[in-house]
Amino acid sequence: MVLKSSLTITFSLVAFLGFAQKLKPVDQRVDELLAKMTLVEKIGQLNQYTSDRLATGPIAPNSNKFNDIKQGRLGSMLNVEGAKETRMVQEYAMQSRLKIPLLFGRDVIHGYRVTFPVPLAEASSWDLNAIELSARIAATEAAAAGLHWTFAPMVDISRDPRWGRVVEGAGEDPYLGSLIAKARVKGFQGKQLGDLDAVMACAKHFAAYGAAIAGRDYNSVDISERALWEIYLPPFKAAVDAGAATFMNSFNDLNGIPATGNKYLQRDILKGKWQYSGFVVSDWASIAEMVAHGYAKDKSQAAERAILAGSDMDMEGNAYISSLSNLVKLGKVPESLIDDAVRRILRKKFELGLFEDPFRFSDEKREKKVLGAQEHHKAALEAAEKSIVLLKNENQLLPLDRTMKKIAVIGPLAKSGYDMRGAWSVYWKDDHLVSLYEGLQAKLNGKAQLLYAKGCGIEDTSTAGFTEAVETARKADVVIMAVGEKWDMSGEAKSRSDIRIPGVQEELIEAVKATGKKVVVLVMAGRPLIFNYTAANADAILYTWFLGSEAGNAMANVLYGDYNPSGKLPITFPRAQGQIPIYYNYRNTGRPLTGKDMSYKSAYIDVSNKPAYAFGYGLSYTSFSMSNLQLSKKDLKTDGTLKVTFTITNTGKYSGEEVVQLYLHDLVASVARPVKELKDFQKVKLAPNESKTLTFEIDKEKLSFYNEAMHWGTEPGEFKLMIGNSSDNILLETNFVLNN
Ligand code: BGC
Repeated sequence: MVLKSSLTITFSLVAFLGFAQKLKPVDQRVDELLAKMTLVEKIGQLNQYTSDRLATGPIAPNSNKFNDIKQGRLGSMLNVEGAKETRMVQEYAMQSRLKIPLLFGRDVIHGYRVTFPVPLAEASSWDLNAIELSARIAATEAAAAGLHWTFAPMVDISRDPRWGRVVEGAGEDPYLGSLIAKARVKGFQGKQLGDLDAVMACAKHFAAYGAAIAGRDYNSVDISERALWEIYLPPFKAAVDAGAATFMNSFNDLNGIPATGNKYLQRDILKGKWQYSGFVVSDWASIAEMVAHGYAKDKSQAAERAILAGSDMDMEGNAYISSLSNLVKLGKVPESLIDDAVRRILRKKFELGLFEDPFRFSDEKREKKVLGAQEHHKAALEAAEKSIVLLKNENQLLPLDRTMKKIAVIGPLAKSGYDMRGAWSVYWKDDHLVSLYEGLQAKLNGKAQLLYAKGCGIEDTSTAGFTEAVETARKADVVIMAVGEKWDMSGEAKSRSDIRIPGVQEELIEAVKATGKKVVVLVMAGRPLIFNYTAANADAILYTWFLGSEAGNAMANVLYGDYNPSGKLPITFPRAQGQIPIYYNYRNTGRPLTGKDMSYKSAYIDVSNKPAYAFGYGLSYTSFSMSNLQLSKKDLKTDGTLKVTFTITNTGKYSGEEVVQLYLHDLVASVARPVKELKDFQKVKLAPNESKTLTFEIDKEKLSFYNEAMHWGTEPGEFKLMIGNSSDNILLETNFVLNN
């Protein structure tokens, strides 16, 4: 009895003290903890190891990981999987002197158990709510599996489809990319860090990784200050504004200085000008790799350069833990810099509530209940439908006529669920990935006969399977072909010098097309591919990217018109490899190609300047017209707002959505401006014959640019305003003047 009441008093006291601690401001709790830490324990917080079983890069051999955790020499671990395992690893941290909890991070890029479309596909939806929801669901599942942190979103702009990592981003445009960055950060972090369905976001890779020379992964980046600020930095700034808890730096050097050791990027811009209060993790071993760059003579100098430059945490590189103590003792690194990095990291651990309960995310029951929930599949299906881009639809072949009774499904990707997951989908389960064939089977439910032939493998050079494919096509009313890349032909370290559809797949299309049957081609890939034969000869083309768990169901819904495609390309599709880099927001040059005469013009003698498909392009089963453009004024004052109104009408016979895009061109300025820059868009849904009046507002922010001195602001003068449904299909345009 006495024992019981004294126990109760002890528990209440502990609870009270815990509660009292919680009431203190986070910064105070951080400082109090910091004051108790030895230098080694501080450096431990800056150290991150991978678990041995799921490597996403080259592992540095270390048999002492758990011992290091118990000694307080580790702040975070990546690639630990599941509630049970994270709990087990966290137990080791609870054996350390100060019991500082570990952070568990992973690459939850497009879904956790339920796989959503790859990020570039989702960007094709131009649907910010759907994109935010996808990140929200990924976070809910990841947090239920013990994770605190996702290494996403990747917000690298890229103009080069050879670069395998285009698949992870939002394409080529800084405006669209910034809005998507914001939506993804909000989605991952939910209402607030500390909620059990929120994980920390990580805006990566800071910065300009997507400009790797020649599209070769990890390659150097050599770009102008203007390109850095205009093209590559805006999505990072948007991520800061959206409250991204962490940043990751990048493997590349930027004009000679590795991003990881780049003080200008990390201290001057990110933590200085943008006043970023989160922390920066290195990319995998990117601190130690500064030796290979030729920027540090050994790991110790690499550690010195990285910490001075503002990299707070060392991912799987062993540079900080092996060298920082000594560097502080030698006076080469001030301890105050270590303290600043530790503070940033501890703050997040407090915000996540880990000091109240280090195991709060590691709950096997919750994990079981949340992973793969039905509503997650529903959202994944909707996201997949919205990500599909209709590139061609001759004679309105699509949606397919339901009276057709024999459907041939041909091609190496037709029966593949496996490939539908795309890059960075480590938690998928085979039975959760629906192939095109399975999706069609479920849709037709015996009402039409599905015939199948593989035709060839993805990278095959053999045409042995063509005869069977052709015979199968001959028996059918219509042919659906599934071609493209394997799931892992895009992603990290997956650059390609030849981005045509691999192997003999286009020859297979040609052979099938020779039967005279109508052919619908579905191209599945993680990047823009080149497919000029198909573009010219297929009757209809859907670009489906890799659509995740619900891929086949989404494709079947689009093929049969249960969803009317509304996707728009977030990146330009070249028609020739030699056009790369190719993008819509180029400058005019002094010798622009305007008419047919190519002599002494900025043009190729062997290929058109035009892309195969432009940024912003994508068709619908219905058609839209735009009319009656009106401006609230023709002269705008710098601090004023211009209202743009116009009417959009659905002139076709299906209900559908259109992404209306607004572009501006500053005609004459102190720095030549791009011929078009996306400045706003709206996605609207209209029933047949329905009209809507849409309004855009133009203000100073939309008219500003970096002038010759790299100052952000406006210059008076004339602007061209363009509204269309693709960057190369402007339907309304007018000019207005900006006055001081
Ligand atoms: C990639 C990062 C990723 C990290 C951890 C690196 O190789 O560049 O994007 O977050 O590995 O898996």
